[in-house]
Amino acid sequence: MEDRILDPQVSEEERELDQTLRPRWIEEFIGQDRIREHFNIFISAARTRREPLDHVLLSGPPGLGKTTLAGIIANEMGVSFRQTSGPALERAGDLASILTGLQPGDLLFIDEIHRLNRTVEEVLYPAMEDFALDLVIGKGPGARSIRLELPSFTLVGATTRAGLLTSPLRDRFGVQSRLDYYGREEVQAIVRRSARILDVRVDEGGAQEIARRSRGTPRIANRLLRRVRDFAQVRAEGHIDLEVAEAALTLFEVDDCGLDKVDKMILNAIIGKFGGGPVGLNTLAASVGEEIDTIEEVYEPYLMQIGFLQRTPRGRVATEHAYRHLGIEWGGEPAGSALF
Ligand SMILES: Nc1ncnc2c1ncn2[C@@H]1O[C@H](COP(=O)(O)OP(=O)(O)O)[C@@H](O)[C@H]1O
Ligand SMILES: [Mg+2]
Repeated sequence: MEDRILDPQVSEEERELDQTLRPRWIEEFIGQDRIREHFNIFISAARTRREPLDHVLLSGPPGLGKTTLAGIIANEMGVSFRQTSGPALERAGDLASILTGLQPGDLLFIDEIHRLNRTVEEVLYPAMEDFALDLVIGKGPGARSIRLELPSFTLVGATTRAGLLTSPLRDRFGVQSRLDYYGREEVQAIVRRSARILDVRVDEGGAQEIARRSRGTPRIANRLLRRVRDFAQVRAEGHIDLEVAEAALTLFEVDDCGLDKVDKMILNAIIGKFGGGPVGLNTLAASVGEEIDTIEEVYEPYLMQIGFLQRTPRGRVATEHAYRHLGIEWGGEPAGSALF
């Protein structure tokens, strides 16, 4: 079975690993200094006032620590963590039964909150605002609405696509934080921490190399560490240094910018089939055989971050950096690619 470095699906085995490696307290959460400090203040203020924390919206690409942070907030607040997701809440009743089952102060985590459907979302409005549930009893002209009181709770929503949230929903979050790709040194610290927990021997050069190819993403750093560990066990008596990390990652087709096969297919398609772009997302997705959402949520943000790809009103464009990286001659700005 080929498990891809950037696979947005988290396998069962990886879920277990995630549990082992997941920081539980804010002290253990590496990087994102501004966000960490922000939450430190929020959490201690709420604890001092003995009030639940404001509702929190966490956004950013997959694998940056949204679920981790939600769990940390619950731990630090000393409350229970209840977890569900947008797609799992099919009917209004699904959400209503979770809400009525909460204990005062609980943290309810809704992952992929941009995928809530409208009727479910409408249940959330009074719940978030007034800790109330509006139920409609009966049908037709005799129908009436009654209001049930809910325990106070903190909603933490996570999304890879903050732009898809409706504004009434977004406005109900008192705290909105966007997680960004981690710096090289932060990822390196994450690699070292994970290696310690997993009892893997990795030296400075090895940690640096893994970090360099991890796309600023903790989940990918952990995935790569695990792959390199396997390689090192077989080829290097379990010791990961620069050379071993390089050899392993090259074998697994993660290049020195952290690009994998699909990233390259995307760039090669834009350049080879569409003259560098602009090319529409749908066409691009069809030509590389990937889901549109996956390209938009997983691949593009990083390609844009490192300056290999631009979004223009007319479609996606490969930049000169991308040509250079792939060793393709750059023929100048493609026609119609200007950002207007
Ligand atoms: N700041 C961090 N410090 C250390 N490890 C982290 C950090 N953020 C994420 N991780 C690791 O990366 C993995 C993926 O994080 P997760 O919270 O599931 O990301 P998301 O929910 O944003 O997709 C976690 O298992 C955790 O081990
Ligand atoms: Mg998550």
